[in-house]
Amino acid sequence: MSDRELTATRLLSSSAEHSYDPEVEIDWDAPLSPDHYFVPPHRCSLYGTPLWERLTESQRITLTRHEAASTAGRGVWFETILMQLLIRDYYRQNPTTAHAQYALTEVADECRHSVMFGRMIDKLDCPVYHVGAFDDALGRWLAATASGPRMFAAILIAEEVLDALQREASADESVQPLIRMVSRIHVVEEARHVRYARAELARQVRAASRRRLAFDRLVIARAAYLTGTGLVHPDVYRSVGITPAQGRQAARANPHHRETLRWAGQRVVAYLEDLDLIGGPGMALWRRSGLL
Ligand SMILES: [Fe+2]
Ligand SMILES: [Fe+2]
Repeated sequence: MSDRELTATRLLSSSAEHSYDPEVEIDWDAPLSPDHYFVPPHRCSLYGTPLWERLTESQRITLTRHEAASTAGRGVWFETILMQLLIRDYYRQNPTTAHAQYALTEVADECRHSVMFGRMIDKLDCPVYHVGAFDDALGRWLAATASGPRMFAAILIAEEVLDALQREASADESVQPLIRMVSRIHVVEEARHVRYARAELARQVRAASRRRLAFDRLVIARAAYLTGTGLVHPDVYRSVGITPAQGRQAARANPHHRETLRWAGQRVVAYLEDLDLIGGPGMALWRRSGLL
C-alpha cells in the first residue's frame, strides 16, 4: 500500500470512531451564561488596550461574543470553499481508493461544521460577518481553480490557525460551555484534516516545478494575509460603541493581539518554512499577516 493510501486508510478508521453530530451532541436550547466569555479574554483583539480598559465587564463579554461570531462566519466561508476544492479534486480520482474516499469523508465533516457554525452565530444573536468584495472574489477564484501546493497550503493555514485558537478555548473555563463544546468537536475532527493536508502538501510540493512553486508562494502569502487580518471583522467593534476604524487600528497596534496571531500561526509557519513555501515577492504580505 502506498504512503498516500496508508494515511487515508488510517484517517478513515479514525473518522469512523470519532465523528460527532452537533445536532445531537450540543444542547442548543441551553441558555447562554451571562458571565462567561465567548473567546478567552486574553485572545480578544482589544485585550489590554486603553479601549479595553474603558469597557465594562459586560461590554467585554459582548465584544468576545461578536469576535466569536466573526471567526465562525469566516470559518463557514472558508469551509464552503474547501468543500468545493475537495469535490473538484475528488472528481478526477478513482473512487475505490482510500485517498478519494477520505476526501469525501472530509467534505461530510465540513458540512456538519458549517451547519454547526451557522447555528452558533444564530444562537449568539450576532450578524453574519461577511468577507469584503475583494476577498469574496478571491475566494470564488480559489474555489474554482486552486489545486496543488497553493490549494493545500491555503487550507492548512486556515485550519491550523483556527485549530490553535479553538484548542485553547475548548480548555478555558472562563469560556461559554457552548463555545467550548463547538471548539472541542471541531478540534477533534480538524486534527484529521490537518494530517491529510500536511501529507498531501508535502507530496504536491515534491511533484511541482520551480515555476509553479514561485507562483504558488505568492498565492499562499495572500492566503496567509487573509487569514491573519480577517479573523476579526472590524464591524464587531460597533457592538460596544467603538467605530470599526478605531477598533481595527487599536487591534493592529495591540501587542497582545500581535502575539496571539504569531502564536496561532507558529506551527503552520514552521511547516511551510520546512517545505520552502515562504519567501519571494509574497514576503511583504506574510509580514502584514501578523503570522510570522
Ligand atoms: Fe471544519
Ligand atoms: Fe477542516
